[in-house]
Amino acid sequence: MKRIRILFIGLTLSAGFAGTQAQVAQPGRLLASNCFQCHGTNGKGPGFDAIAGKSVGEIYTKLKEFQAGKEGNGIMAKHALGYTDQQMQALDKWLSTQQ
Ligand code: HEC
Repeated sequence: MKRIRILFIGLTLSAGFAGTQAQVAQPGRLLASNCFQCHGTNGKGPGFDAIAGKSVGEIYTKLKEFQAGKEGNGIMAKHALGYTDQQMQALDKWLSTQQ
């Protein structure tokens, strides 16, 4: 029972954190930090494909394709499910500023 309560508190805290993430001054940069472990710091590699410095709209389109199951069936297809449309636009906008 105690373990279940602790798990519940953990879930509540992480849900609260995800909610506040979208409201900070630079939501794109903060959200993109989720990508750095695989795509390199600021999305510039090394790692999987570099995602920095693409033209505006490119990352958004890719993420929508991953989310819709039209592209890939691996890590990104699952990862993309965690973002709202607004968050994907913020990611796209911020990553496109990284040369
Ligand atoms: C756990 C590792 C991991 C994380 C975290 C991750 N990615 Fe990926 N990403 C991949 C892999 C692996 C691929 C190659 C396609 C595949 O296998 O799904 C990929 C491919 C992509 C592509 C396609 C690139 C191309 O040129 O076709 C985009 C765009 C992308 N990721 C964006 C993101 C964004 C934005 C984030 C953060 C919100 C992110 N990724 C987080 C592993 C990751």
